[in-house]
Amino acid sequence: MNEKLFKEIDWRMKVFDSLSYPTLIMTLDKIIVSGNQVFFDKFETTLEDIVGKTCYEVFYNAKQCPNEKCPWSRVIAERKGQSILHSVTTKTRRKLWEDRVFSPILGDDGEVAYILESVRDVTRVKNLEIALKETEAFLEKIITGSPIAIVVADRYGNILLMNPAAQELFGYSSVEAAINISAANLYPEGVAAEIQERLKDEKIGGKGKLPSMNTTIQKSDGEEIPVEITASIIYEDEEEIAVVGIYTDLREKQAVEKKLKDTRARLAQSEKMASIGQLAAGVAHEINNPLTGILFYAEMKQAELTADDPERAEVAAVIEDVNRCRDIVKNLLAYSRQSNPTKEIIQLNEIIDQSLTLIRDPKALMNIEIIKEIYTDKILVHVDRNQICRVVINLVMNAVSSMEGSGTLTFRTYRDTARQKAVLEIEDSGCGISKEHLPRIFDPFFTTKKLGEGTGLGLSTVYGLIRENKGLIEVKQTSEKGTTFRVELPLLQSIESAGQEP
Ligand SMILES: Nc1ncnc2c1ncn2[C@@H]1O[C@H](COP(=O)(O)OP(=O)(O)OP(=O)(O)O)[C@@H](O)[C@H]1O
Ligand SMILES: [Mg+2]
Repeated sequence: MNEKLFKEIDWRMKVFDSLSYPTLIMTLDKIIVSGNQVFFDKFETTLEDIVGKTCYEVFYNAKQCPNEKCPWSRVIAERKGQSILHSVTTKTRRKLWEDRVFSPILGDDGEVAYILESVRDVTRVKNLEIALKETEAFLEKIITGSPIAIVVADRYGNILLMNPAAQELFGYSSVEAAINISAANLYPEGVAAEIQERLKDEKIGGKGKLPSMNTTIQKSDGEEIPVEITASIIYEDEEEIAVVGIYTDLREKQAVEKKLKDTRARLAQSEKMASIGQLAAGVAHEINNPLTGILFYAEMKQAELTADDPERAEVAAVIEDVNRCRDIVKNLLAYSRQSNPTKEIIQLNEIIDQSLTLIRDPKALMNIEIIKEIYTDKILVHVDRNQICRVVINLVMNAVSSMEGSGTLTFRTYRDTARQKAVLEIEDSGCGISKEHLPRIFDPFFTTKKLGEGTGLGLSTVYGLIRENKGLIEVKQTSEKGTTFRVELPLLQSIESAGQEP
């Protein structure tokens, strides 16, 4: 060997020895011809121990290579480096990950003459990768299993993720159905833009954050649902990459709140009515006795007068006015629960016809179209027939005056079986009740009629009578197009249950 060549080999051997990865040089038959010092140190062996042996003898102590994935033949065929990831378990049962890199050494003819195999320990990287995958899977489980609706969209508004709770809320059958549609489709017009604007406004919740806000979403079938939303922008290196929205369905909460508000209003109303009722009962009682006296004396006087006596008309006027006063007292007593109802089992639908025939001035209904949306089955109630007729007559007369004599009057009856109620609705096409009058209409003597045209006792009497019959009355709706009064009475399930009422 000439000196130049020797020097070259020596130089190459030094490079080979200084490689930081354990490395072997092998012939194409997988026979080891050399190894570097790092290899000997790592595998606790010597050059003499391994030279002449095959790599599978050294690595696997086997007569044949058991590694089917070994890229050996590809390295030779393609004359290019290849690598495989390989796991080994140490004597102490520690799992290690190795990246085995095979590099061809070409001969003068350009064909592969030897193969260099180096072993790189990638356990740390691989473990990090596994941990990352586990964390990702864990996060995915949390998001998928969460009862909270979560939607993620990219910076252009394309949906990237919609968890099952959100799919249910927004009405999508699967993730695929929602992926890549625009997030703007999740809201009624204008809402998405408003959310974007608030999200970017640093004065609201800080940079890229939207603290909870009540808004409306739109399901895939167009239904609008009230929700509470919180959202935030996800940044990577200061760059906006996605937006996360978290939604809470407010329907149940709002329904409970409305029920609470209605109950409070009813409670306040019945407290007010109870105290006014006490006062009314007291006044009615006190007035009743002197009225009886006045009537007695006036009738006596009338009996004494001859038929042509000029005073006769005056006494008749006194008697008429006293009778009017007694009517008022009677109504006040009804309102304040001082009358004795005589209950019987009747059909709610019958009461409507009976009341209409009892209206004193039938001309009042002449220009009114009457529509009956009546439940065909019998709706049985256990009530005082006369009292409920008075209720209907009062409501009809109010409706007639609100329509100034012409319009449409609708009677509607139905069963609310879930709540065990018989319901009667009386709807007019009249002027409606103003917001400021609405809380006062059931108060005794509240009227918007001209002096002498109404006493304002109609609805307060109705209120008292309905309460007497264990029912409830309320204004279902009112607007300038008309008003609907809703009367609810306990529904009688069977004739036998009539006597079991409290
Ligand atoms: N259907 C209705 N449409 C519009 N306003 C109504 C209706 N029913 C009642 N109101 C309002 O409620 C007020 C009180 O009614 P209520 O029946 O107690 O007394 P009134 O009708 O004024 O007098 P009265 O019944 O003694 O003749 C009415 O004056 C009217 O302003
Ligand atoms: Mg009235």
